[in-house]
Amino acid sequence: MISTPIPAEIVQQKILESGLPSIGNASIREIKKLVDNIETASGQKFIRMEMGIPGLPPAQIGVDGQIEALRKGVAAIYPDIHGIPMVKNEISRFVKLFMNIDVNPEGCLPTVGSMQGGFASFLMLGRILKDRDTTLFIDPGFPVHKQQHKVLNIKFESFDVYNYRGEKLREKLESFFKKGNIHSVLYSNPNNPSWICFTEKELQIIGELANKYQVVIMEDLAYFGMDFRNDYSKPGQPPYQPSVANYTDNYILFISSSKAFSYAGERIGMMVIADKLFKSHFPDLKRFYSNDLFGYNMIFGTLYPLSSGTSHSAQYGLTAILKAANDGKFDFVEIVKEYGEKAHIMKKLFTENGFEIVYDMDEDKPIADGFYFTYSYPGFTGIELLEKMIYYGISAISLDITGSERHEGIRACTSLIQRNQFEVLEQRLKQFHIDHPIK
Ligand SMILES: Cc1ncc(COP(=O)(O)O)c(C=O)c1O
Repeated sequence: MISTPIPAEIVQQKILESGLPSIGNASIREIKKLVDNIETASGQKFIRMEMGIPGLPPAQIGVDGQIEALRKGVAAIYPDIHGIPMVKNEISRFVKLFMNIDVNPEGCLPTVGSMQGGFASFLMLGRILKDRDTTLFIDPGFPVHKQQHKVLNIKFESFDVYNYRGEKLREKLESFFKKGNIHSVLYSNPNNPSWICFTEKELQIIGELANKYQVVIMEDLAYFGMDFRNDYSKPGQPPYQPSVANYTDNYILFISSSKAFSYAGERIGMMVIADKLFKSHFPDLKRFYSNDLFGYNMIFGTLYPLSSGTSHSAQYGLTAILKAANDGKFDFVEIVKEYGEKAHIMKKLFTENGFEIVYDMDEDKPIADGFYFTYSYPGFTGIELLEKMIYYGISAISLDITGSERHEGIRACTSLIQRNQFEVLEQRLKQFHIDHPIK
């Protein structure tokens, strides 16, 4: 019997108590709860890599803006569903200055986290064309988006992009679009969980096919500006955050403030609808709404019944953050670079101890260091490895729950681990490597 950093009896006991049939298949929140319980019972701190919580303090300028708004009494007043004018203008400026795209403030909407932006969009896109009933996910992806589809009872199809990078993406996407059932596509870029980033060529392919097949592209920019191989931090100066918006006018962007501005707790995000889509008429929408206008019904037919808008004070907080970023007074990218630096060190510790990075390339370039990375260990599936590593005080999630076809893989999140934990991480990885020699 090998002695592991976390006593095996405690781990086994807590797994049993959790009632989870398989740890490797558990959701992020279930793993979090299990690890909380093991930490309490063992008195040992884990290297926690399961949950994508920002590991940095919130953007102070946002907190100040929000407090000021609360003092002025906004808590008493219902906010407009489409957002306060100031936040709409700053969102429009933000996408112009950091992405070089033009979107009318009308289509720039604050949402209750980008999670709500997704939910509202799925709900509507599933209804725009009565003969199209399916969303296509370019996977791997964020598991909650699929959960949203399940509760909305919307069909989805997906494929793992791992083997379809570059020009190969065109044929793969067309094979889905040709069937005629796909109304929209979702992907995140940089990608959660794999941290791959689409190249300009790939974004162009996606945009061109969106035009050809009239498919709406939902681009989830939860990790805006965080491909640190390029400096996207200077407003109004190239390079800009890459986007499909340069190749189609049939898009919705979700820009989260959770990671870029460390503002997850206030649940405010941005939904940016392309001008053309915002004004589009879809006669089939009349089955559910009083008219057929996409933008109008997103606001008054969809966001209204969901939450009647987004927290009033949080809108002021976000306005303050965006204004400072747009005016070049707040370099949010510089702050979050910490994640990339930690990823660089952590990836080294893993690979020196027999682990391999699963998603490692963007076409011909090594992927960036950022918020997440993926790893495997010879001889284990991701599900087996995840469970084994719990005994070594290291928690993460298996790629199986993300739609990845790399069944050997695990996703690690770099945000919560502190630099002073690297030594313990290294010791634990070394011990794992010794205890599991590679044949
Ligand atoms: C890809 C992706 N989309 C959306 C979200 C949710 O963002 P928000 O906190 O703005 O709802 C996350 C959060 O982890 C994410 O990783």
